[in-house]
Amino acid sequence: MEEGVTENTGPQGTVEANLDQTLRPHKWDEYIGQENIKENLRVLIQAAMERNHAPEHTLLYGPPGLGKTTLAYLIAKELNTNVKATAGPVIERVGDLAAVLTNLNAGDILFIDEIHRLNKSVEELLYPAMESGKLDIIVGKGPSARTIELGLPPFTLIGATTRIALISSPLRSRFSGGVYQLEFYSNDEIKTILERSSKLLDVQIEKDATNEIAQRSRQTPRTANYLLKRCRDVAQLNRSAITKEVAEKGLTMIGVDELGLTVSDRRILEVIIEKFDGGPVGLKTLAAAALEEEETIEGVYEPYLMQEGLLERTPRGRVATPRAYAHLGKTPTQERLV
Ligand code: ADE
Repeated sequence: MEEGVTENTGPQGTVEANLDQTLRPHKWDEYIGQENIKENLRVLIQAAMERNHAPEHTLLYGPPGLGKTTLAYLIAKELNTNVKATAGPVIERVGDLAAVLTNLNAGDILFIDEIHRLNKSVEELLYPAMESGKLDIIVGKGPSARTIELGLPPFTLIGATTRIALISSPLRSRFSGGVYQLEFYSNDEIKTILERSSKLLDVQIEKDATNEIAQRSRQTPRTANYLLKRCRDVAQLNRSAITKEVAEKGLTMIGVDELGLTVSDRRILEVIIEKFDGGPVGLKTLAAAALEEEETIEGVYEPYLMQEGLLERTPRGRVATPRAYAHLGKTPTQERLV
């Protein structure tokens, strides 16, 4: 298999082996939440199966850790087919994508994570492949160059992105199976996920500890499971269940506060408040001052900070809200109050 592509059938080292096998849902019924997306995908899959066709290409977007990859694998399971998984930054050249596409088997799911990071020439090769299952390859150079058209087996592309705004409209319009936004999870959904995960990890957890972890998990299953594992470590060394005290200790140790903010989240807010008097500050300036990538701020940190009402995006830049000041125990300057 070519570099950068992994199959869900292989042994160690493949994406499937690297997925968090124990905690990831393996059946639709185990996948909590995102009801609207699940319903849409079920219809898409069932109708396609009845027609004996590969389902149409689908784009999933939303902040990291909400279950985009998991959905792609569940779709494949439902279709009884394989996933070939790759990512935007890995497909550097047109030839890389051609290699991926020509290695597909009929009915495969091609999962491209971070699809917003495909470069333009690669993206353009994808259009005819998505639209009519054709691959246009240019052979030779100069006056003798010619295009050969290769037919591809039927396949379903599932794209995933944290940055929908960076998806060009020609690419977006080719996802005829739909463009779906994953939502943050409710507190109850996260608690259900934590209860399931603690059973799978074979660790005792008390109800108020589940509440505490849920509250700090950024409404994100991946974070919830990560926090649960860190609390399990503390419980194990204490030879106890995960009690509220154990959870508080574990979560404080890794720097996650009562709202689920990490050191990086707090640094972003502190930079806006302390260096830019609460904002507005442009993204570029903020990224440089907070020692973060612009893309990480927009795709990873901001969605949750905005969801929690701690940060606002305005036409003039990012602004820390009064709630951010209160949460960090800061007082607005005199200039800011007038
Ligand atoms: N683990 C990660 N995402 C999940 C979900 N949506 N439901 C259950 N477990 C999960």
